[in-house]
Amino acid sequence: MKVLIAGGAGYIGSTVASACLDAGIAPVILDSLVTGRPEFTTGTPFYQGDIRDGPLVDRVFAEHPDIYAVIHCAALIVVPDSVADPLGYYRANVTGSLEFVAHLLRNGCERLIFSSSAAIYQASEDLTVDEDSPIDPQSPYARTKAVCEAMFADIAAAGPLRVLSLRYFNPIGADPKMRTGLALRLPTHALGKMIQARDEGVPFVITGTDWPTRDGSGIRDYVHVWDLATAHVAALTRFDALPGPVTVINLGTGAGTTVRELLGMFNRVSDRPVEAREAARRPGDTAGAYTRTDRARRLLAWQPQYDIADGIRHSLQWAASRDDILPA
Ligand SMILES: NC(=O)c1ccc[n+]([C@@H]2O[C@H](COP(=O)([O-])OP(=O)(O)OC[C@H]3O[C@@H](n4cnc5c(N)ncnc54)[C@H](O)[C@@H]3O)[C@@H](O)[C@H]2O)c1
Repeated sequence: MKVLIAGGAGYIGSTVASACLDAGIAPVILDSLVTGRPEFTTGTPFYQGDIRDGPLVDRVFAEHPDIYAVIHCAALIVVPDSVADPLGYYRANVTGSLEFVAHLLRNGCERLIFSSSAAIYQASEDLTVDEDSPIDPQSPYARTKAVCEAMFADIAAAGPLRVLSLRYFNPIGADPKMRTGLALRLPTHALGKMIQARDEGVPFVITGTDWPTRDGSGIRDYVHVWDLATAHVAALTRFDALPGPVTVINLGTGAGTTVRELLGMFNRVSDRPVEAREAARRPGDTAGAYTRTDRARRLLAWQPQYDIADGIRHSLQWAASRDDILPA
């Protein structure tokens, strides 16, 4: 089986490409390298360019007529940037995806796996969500994901397109074989900040200690990026058995972890412990949520193999080797 991975030079797409290779599926990568890294495409057929570039997409399919499905991970993903530049984000993520799907359909490609996000869900009182929970995206970035899902559903209702939207929770870790990981040297998510605090010998700042969670800090569903990647392999092998022209599946562990708990685990895994300092909530933050996992188990026969300690260990290992793998 051969699969086109748009955004395959990014953090998640490159890990999906490695998981495909390990499973005997041949990836082809299309990526503009706006944030992705060419080092992550080594050994894989790679087309550098934008998903909006029709002639380029036509060339990919002319040279790989046996592409079975497309995994669409290409997007701009930084929430504050999307607030500052909504036009650019809608253009890249929404218009870009619309044009890309038109190029795919023109080339007879009708199976689309879309990287969506748990950021589209409305906050729920018990902090859990499933695929039928109401959505209420809170940032332009999250709204681009919700708009794409709705747009793909309309297109699928009118023609041959079949779409699987995978709503990722909070990816952590790196490829356990250290082929790929986060390209950013200073990631802004909680685990990235913990690694930075450790390296700089300063306290980690817990932003918000009055959320309605068991210890007042925000809660997330941290899922190992390799587990996310293997879910895509499962989705490829089961795609034609999915129930509808449009399917949505949440990808998380099913367990919520608070920021304080994450720090506790970090300090058990790390050789240098990090202290905590408490601060007020940041604008735009939410209490967070974790997923119910029944649908992923039922439709993909998938469940995560790695736990949070593995994710922390692999993130630390990646942080230590990143500069050798990705020279500046
Ligand atoms: N990282 C997360 O926490 C997270 C959570 C939920 C969903 N997602 C989604 O997963 C997908 C992958 O995210 P990531 O964390 O790997 O980000 P990333 O920035 O590492 O990867 C995105 C990749 O897409 C490429 N790209 C962007 N726009 C493009 C375009 N118009 N044409 C061609 N290539 C383009 C970039 O160069 C990059 O390689 C995104 O769609 C993102 O919205 C990510």
